[in-house]
Amino acid sequence: MTQTTIPDGSAAPRPSVPDIDWANLGFSYIRTDWRYLAHWQDGAWDAGHLTEDNVLHISEGSTALHYGQQCFEGLKAYRCADGSVNLFRPDQNAARMARSCERVLMPAPSQAAFIDACRQVVRANDHFIPPYGTGGSLYLRPFVIGVGDNIGVRSAPEFLFGVFCIPVGPYFKGGLSPMNFVTSGYDRAAPHGTGAAKVGGNYAASLLPGQEAKARHFADAIYLDPETHTKIEEVGSANFFAITKGGSTFVTPSSPSILPSITKYSLLWLAEHRLGLKVREGDVPIDRLDEFSEAGACGTAAVITPIGGIQHGERFHVFHSETEAGPVTRRLYEELVGIQFGDREAPEGWIV
Ligand code: COI
Repeated sequence: MTQTTIPDGSAAPRPSVPDIDWANLGFSYIRTDWRYLAHWQDGAWDAGHLTEDNVLHISEGSTALHYGQQCFEGLKAYRCADGSVNLFRPDQNAARMARSCERVLMPAPSQAAFIDACRQVVRANDHFIPPYGTGGSLYLRPFVIGVGDNIGVRSAPEFLFGVFCIPVGPYFKGGLSPMNFVTSGYDRAAPHGTGAAKVGGNYAASLLPGQEAKARHFADAIYLDPETHTKIEEVGSANFFAITKGGSTFVTPSSPSILPSITKYSLLWLAEHRLGLKVREGDVPIDRLDEFSEAGACGTAAVITPIGGIQHGERFHVFHSETEAGPVTRRLYEELVGIQFGDREAPEGWIV
C-alpha cells in the first residue's frame, strides 16, 4: 500500500497500482477508491466529501426506490500524451443535470459544485485513469436521488448528489467497428414525458427491448418516435446520426422525447465547423434510410459506434458496410476523440 493525500488534505491508504488490463477494458463496474457524496436537507446542500464506501445507506422509503425520483449523468476524463487530464464539456453535463432535476422536482448542485465534485473524484482516482494510447478513459457517473423517510407520492425530504468513476473501454464491443440494430415496437419515453431528462425510468423502459434485440443478435434496439412510430429517435442509450449520400450533410433527429446528447451536439458543431458539412436536425423517417450513406450511434459511453445495418420489420438496410466505418464517420471520430485526448485543438470552453 502507498499513501495518497486526498483533496481535503487527509492521507489515506490505497492500492498502489490497480491490476487492470488497460487495453482490453469494456464497460463494466470496477470499484475505484474514492467517490463523492453531498447531502441536501433543510433547503441546502452540505459541503460534500470523498468517501471510500461504495455502498449507500438510505431509507427504505426513499422516493428514488419507489417513484423513480432520480437522475444521472455520464462524462469522461481522458489521459493526454503529456500526462495531464481532460474533462470533456462538464458544464454541459451540469446544465443537463439541472434540467433533469427540475423535471423530477429535485434540487440540483450548482455548475461549480458539479464540476468541483468531478475534479475531486478524478484527482483522487488518478491511478485509475487509463494510460494515453490505450483508448480507455475514466467514466464519471454523477447522480442525484431522492432519499429520506417517505411513503406518499411526493418529492423527497432529502437528496444525495454523488459522483463515482470507473475506467472504461468501448461501450459496444469493437470500438469503431459497425454494429447492427433492430427497431423496437416498444417506446423508451412518452411524447410529453421524461425522454429529454436523464432519468432512470427511461432506461428501465429500455431493458426489455434491449434484451429482445440482443436475443436476436443485434447490438441494441432502435426507438421510433412514440407518437407515430415512423421516425428514428434513439439507438439504445445513444443518439442517432446519419450522413446523406454524397457525404454533404450531417443529419440527426430532433424530438422532445430524445435525450439531448452532449456528444451529438459536439458532432453537429464539428461536422459544420471542422468538416465543412451542412447540418440538419429534423425528422429521420425509418422508410427513407436510402438517403444516407452512413449512420452511427453517439454518446459519452458509445462515443461513435458506426451502424452497419438496421432491421426494420422484414427489411434489413445496410449503410456504408457491415464491417467498416464510413469515411465521414471516421473523420468525425478522429476529430472528436482527438479533442478529448488533447491531440487536436478544442473549441473554446470544451476542455476543463
Ligand atoms: C452515457 O453515454 O453516458 C450514457 O448515459 C449511456 C449509459 C446509460 C450507458
